[in-house]
Amino acid sequence: MAEDKALIKVNGKEIELPLVKGTEEEIGIDISSLRSASGGVVTLDPGYKNTGATESAITFLDGDKGILSYRGYSIEELAEKSNFVEVQYLLLNGELPNKTQYEAFEKRLTEHSLVHEDMKKFFDGYPSHSHPMGQLGSMICALSAFYPNSLDPNRPESDREKSMMRLLAKMPTIVAMIYKNYMGHPYIYPNNSLGYVENFMNMTFGMPTQDTEIDPVIVDAMDKLLILHADHEQNCSTSTVRMVGSSHANLYASVSSGISALWGPLHGGANQKVLEMLDMIIADGGNIEKYVAKAKDKDDPFKLFGFGHRVYKNFDPRARIIKKASDNVLGKLGINDPALDVAKKLEAIALEDDYFVSRKLYPNVDFYSGIIYKAMGFPTQMFTVLFALGRLPGWIAQWKEMRDTKQPIGRPRQIYTGQNARPFVEMSKR
Ligand code: ACO
Repeated sequence: MAEDKALIKVNGKEIELPLVKGTEEEIGIDISSLRSASGGVVTLDPGYKNTGATESAITFLDGDKGILSYRGYSIEELAEKSNFVEVQYLLLNGELPNKTQYEAFEKRLTEHSLVHEDMKKFFDGYPSHSHPMGQLGSMICALSAFYPNSLDPNRPESDREKSMMRLLAKMPTIVAMIYKNYMGHPYIYPNNSLGYVENFMNMTFGMPTQDTEIDPVIVDAMDKLLILHADHEQNCSTSTVRMVGSSHANLYASVSSGISALWGPLHGGANQKVLEMLDMIIADGGNIEKYVAKAKDKDDPFKLFGFGHRVYKNFDPRARIIKKASDNVLGKLGINDPALDVAKKLEAIALEDDYFVSRKLYPNVDFYSGIIYKAMGFPTQMFTVLFALGRLPGWIAQWKEMRDTKQPIGRPRQIYTGQNARPFVEMSKR
C-alpha cells in the first residue's frame, strides 16, 4: 500500500482510500469513494467530531496547541496590529489590502450602509423586547426581498460581490436598529464620515438630541472583539451557512440560517449565558464552589458556560486576548464589575479541578467577552448579536469559497434504526 493511502477492511474486502494533506500537515482520509467501493457502507460520526466537511484556505486552527490564524496571519498579530475592516478584506480576498484597496473597500462599505426605509416596518411589527437574535435572523433574510437579483445563483461575479458588500455594510445598521428598537429609542442613520466600528457605535449609542462622542477606548475594544470573532473555520453556524448555501440559496438566506445556528447556548448564545451565570452566582452570595460542583454533577443540567470547546483542548487563544482586554477596558473606563472578579475566581478554581483538567476544559471566547459588552453599555440579550456582527465576514468568505470551489449540495447519509417494512394497519384494527 502506498504511504499516501489508508487501508480499511469492510466485510472482508480491503479498500484503499487516498489521504489528503493540508498546508499545515493535517491529514484527512478521503472517503468519497468508500460507499461505491464497499457496496453501500458509509461512515458514522454524530456531531461530525472527526469529519472534515471541506478543504478550505481561509482559517487554520490547531485546538491542541491553541493556534488560530486567518489566511496565515495569527489572531494575536491581527488583534494587535490590524482593524476589523482590514480583516474583512483579508477574509474575503485572501490578502491584506494595500492603501488604495483599503480605501476603496472602506468607501464601498459606507456607500451601502443605509437600509431601505421599508425595513422600519418590519421593526414596527416585531415585539421590541423579543430576542435580538430572532430579529437579526429575520431582518437579514428580509434583505433578499429588497434585492431580488440576489436570488439568481448564476448572476455575474460583480453582482454577487455587491450582495456581499451590501450585507457587510448594512449589518451594523441593522444591529443598531435592533438595539434602538429594543430600547424604544429613535433610529440614528449611518454617518459616512465615521469609520465602520465608530459608525456602528454611534448608530447604537447616539441620540438625535445631542452630539455623541464615543470613547475611543470603547471603539478600540469593539474593533478587537470583532476581529477575534471574524472566522472560526467549520463551526456549527459556518457549517450551516455552507450547508444552506450549497443548495444555491441566496447569501442573505444562508447567513440568516447561520444566525439561527449561532443563537444556541452551546454556540454563540453562550456569551449571554455566561453573564447570566455570573450574575446568578453573585446573587446567590458568590458561592463559586457550589456552582463548580453543580457543573461536575452529571445529574445536574447546569454547565459552566464559556468553558469547553469542541476543538480547543488547550486555552482558546481568543479567550486569552479577551481576558486581557477586559481588564484593560474596565480599568480605562474606571468600572469595577464584580462579574469580572467572579469570572477570574471561577476560572482559577476550574483550571485546578481534576474534572476540568482531565477533560481539557478551558475558557472559550465567550467567557470574558460579555463583561466587555456590558461595560460598553449593551444589554445582555444583545451579546450574541454582537458575535454575529463579528462573524459575518467569516460566514460570507466561507459561503463564497464554497460556491467558487463548486461544492456539491450538502447531503449527509444516515444509519437507519427504525422499523423494518411492515403492512399498513387500518385504524379500526390499531
Ligand atoms: N461544564 C461542565 N462540563 C462540561 C462542559 C462545561 N462547560 N463542557 C464540557 N463538559 C464535559 C461534558 O459533560 C463531557 O463530560 P463526560 O466526558 O464526563 O461526559 C466532556 O466535558 C466533553 O464534553 P462534550 O459535551 O462531549 O464536548 P463537545 O465537544 O460535544 O461540546 C461544547 C463542546 C458544546 C462547547 C461544551 O463544552 C459546552 O457545552 N460548553 C458550554 C457552552 C459554551 O460555552 N459554548 C460556547 C462554545 S464556543 C463557541 O461556540 C463560540
